[in-house]
Amino acid sequence: MRAARFHETGGPEQLQVESVPNPSPRPDEILVEVRAIGVNPTEVYSREGDRDHPLPRIPGADFAGIVESVGETVTDVEPGDRVFGTGLQNDRQGTYAEYVVARPRRYAVLPDEVSFEQGAAAGVVGTTAWLAFVEHARLTPTSTCFIHGGSGGVGHVAVQTAKLCGATVVTTAGSEASREFARECGADTVLDYARPDLLATAQKIAPDGVDVVLDHRIGSYLQFDLEVLAPDGTVVVIGGPQDESRITDMWPAIRTDATVQVFAMSNEPDLGAVLEEVAVLLADGRLDIHIARRYDLEDAAAAQRAVIEDSFHGKLIILP
Ligand SMILES: NC(=O)c1ccc[n+]([C@@H]2O[C@H](COP(=O)([O-])OP(=O)(O)OC[C@H]3O[C@@H](n4cnc5c(N)ncnc54)[C@H](OP(=O)(O)O)[C@@H]3O)[C@@H](O)[C@H]2O)c1
Repeated sequence: MRAARFHETGGPEQLQVESVPNPSPRPDEILVEVRAIGVNPTEVYSREGDRDHPLPRIPGADFAGIVESVGETVTDVEPGDRVFGTGLQNDRQGTYAEYVVARPRRYAVLPDEVSFEQGAAAGVVGTTAWLAFVEHARLTPTSTCFIHGGSGGVGHVAVQTAKLCGATVVTTAGSEASREFARECGADTVLDYARPDLLATAQKIAPDGVDVVLDHRIGSYLQFDLEVLAPDGTVVVIGGPQDESRITDMWPAIRTDATVQVFAMSNEPDLGAVLEEVAVLLADGRLDIHIARRYDLEDAAAAQRAVIEDSFHGKLIILP
């Protein structure tokens, strides 16, 4: 099969399409013919060397495709079924390939109404938003929530998911086009993240504070998060860089009994169950993943460069 691999960690140029043997499923795994692949920052960080993967390595967390074969103990799907999956960024090999092996609780059936593109793009971001707001922060219709960056991969799904929970959503974006997109996703208020009075404006919009903040850039915003929080509020942290994150004043956190909840979606033992919930929302149209750009597998390096450097609305995907 064709697969994009890196033999050494480093820049995007390390990613080369090569001919490699098809993977073989273990007894409890499935082999999937991949139709679409979601692109995420997490696999860029691993290509750059933040994890200790054996090399060479195929990166990638997200996939959608058709079951080619199943291990002898698999009973939940059979060859020919449409499936989508996620959380493979820390597994033996990732998803930037024509075939992928997925282990139990890392995939779910993809409903007929949902395209392979939507399924592949939904994996990391759909499960992250669900875990953040439904499992961890438990948003309710009376909650107010602040989402940093409401037009990117996680952001645009987080805005939709928070609205599905009935919450009031304040979010940010870097350009007027991105702010308009975040509004189309359902955000109640969208602010320019570069405005110098961001904190004062957020405090004016939510004078009693916000119940939940979703932060993928704690290096920039941890102190902001604590200052915008309501009593008993929760900051849900999904991204860094940690080495730049500082609490310069503990008092706002002490005053509000703040909770800081850090999580990684890949730690969730049953991502399959979360994917099943996301599939329901995708199938009936309550959740829509916006596909900003499609790349060939040969252009995987360009896709990885773009997911870090470019501003886009929604998700980038690779079609193998
Ligand atoms: N812990 C987990 O389980 C988990 C899961 C998923 C993702 N993540 C992490 O979350 C981060 C985002 O992932 P993603 O897939 O959403 O990436 P993405 O699609 O590239 O989106 C990045 C977003 O950040 C926004 N942004 C850029 N500069 C900003 C600033 N100064 N203030 C606020 N927002 C800013 C961008 O907005 P503009 O385009 O308008 O600049 C864009 O909306 C990554 O670090 C990823 O690793 C963690």
